[in-house]
Amino acid sequence: MPVSVRSFAKINLGLAIGAKRDDGFHELRTIYQTLALHDVIRVDVSRGTGIEIRCKDARVPADESNTCWRIADRVMRSLKQRGKIVISIEKNLPVQGGLAGGSSNAVATMLALERVLRTELPARERLRIAAEVGSDLPLFLLGGTVLGCGRGEEVYPLPDLPCIACVVATPEVGVSTPDAFRRLDEFRAQEGELTPEGPSNTISEFGRSAFEWLNGTLSGVPAVGGDRAETLLLDLVRAGIENDFERVVFPLYPELREVKRLLEKSNSSYASLSGSGATLYGLYGHSEQAEEAAQALRSAGICARATVTLGRAGYLEQRFV
Ligand code: C5P
Repeated sequence: MPVSVRSFAKINLGLAIGAKRDDGFHELRTIYQTLALHDVIRVDVSRGTGIEIRCKDARVPADESNTCWRIADRVMRSLKQRGKIVISIEKNLPVQGGLAGGSSNAVATMLALERVLRTELPARERLRIAAEVGSDLPLFLLGGTVLGCGRGEEVYPLPDLPCIACVVATPEVGVSTPDAFRRLDEFRAQEGELTPEGPSNTISEFGRSAFEWLNGTLSGVPAVGGDRAETLLLDLVRAGIENDFERVVFPLYPELREVKRLLEKSNSSYASLSGSGATLYGLYGHSEQAEEAAQALRSAGICARATVTLGRAGYLEQRFV
C-alpha cells in the first residue's frame, strides 16, 4: 500500500554563520521553525529495482540529484531491502529555496518508505542518513522550534513557541547556497579586522541573543504587556536576532531587500530572509494582518502566501496523510 506524508517547510529565526571549517562547511547557529505550509510525498514499493521520481513541476529533478532519490537509496541499503520505489512529489512549496523544501521532501520520503516496508530504522540511523544527505534534513526529524548547530545538522528540540501568523514571500530569484557562503567569506576577508562582526563573534553573539530571547519568552514572563505571540515577536526584534546571509544576498539581489521592506511596512513585527533565500518571511501578531500583507504583496506582483508556524505536537500528528 502506498503511503503519503506531509512535508512541511521551515524558516530560520536568525542565522549566524561562523568560520569555514576544515571539512569545507561553515559552523552555524540558527533557530529553525517549521510551518504549516507543505508538499505531499507519496511512496510506493513494488517488485523489481530502481527509484523513480514523479513530479508535475519540471524544476524538480527526477534523477539521482533529487534528495528524495538519495535518501531512498540510502534507506534501502541500510535496511538491506530491494524493490522498485516510486516517489510522487505534490509540490506546493516554492522551489526557489530558503524553506528547505527538498530537505523536507527527503525526510518525508524516509518516513513513508519505512511505513510502506513496515519497518523502522533506529533513531540514530535515521539521523545519520538525514545528515549525510544534507545539513537541513535532521531538523525535520524533530519539527517545531529547533536549535541548529554544527553545520546545521546538529539539532536540539526547543520548547514550542505559540502559533504565529506568517507570510512567506518568494521572489523569482534563485540564490545558490554554496555561492552565498563563499561570498560571505570573501566579504569578511575584505572587511578584515575592522568590523566586530567576524565569524567567531557572530556565533557567540547569536548564543547570547537567542538565550536572552528564549529565556524571556519560554519562562512565560512577558517583557512587555499584551498577547503572548506579539510579545514573543517584539522580544525577538529586541534581542537583535538576524540572518547573516542578508549582508551578502541583499547587495547581490536588491529586489530581495525591497521585499523585506514591504514585509516590514505591512505591519509585520519581524521580517527576515530565510536561509540563503530567496524566500523572505514576515511574522505577525494576528492572522488577519498576515492575510492582508500576503494580498498586498501579490498586488505588487510578488508571490506570497499566508501561513502559520507549526509546533512539534502538530508537526508529528499531521505528518501522515
Ligand atoms: O549540506 P547541504 O547539502 O545543504 O550543503 C550545501 C552546500 O552549502 C555545501 O556543499 C557547502 O558548500 C555549503 N554549506 C556550508 N556550510 C554549511 C552548510 C552548507 O558551507 N553549514
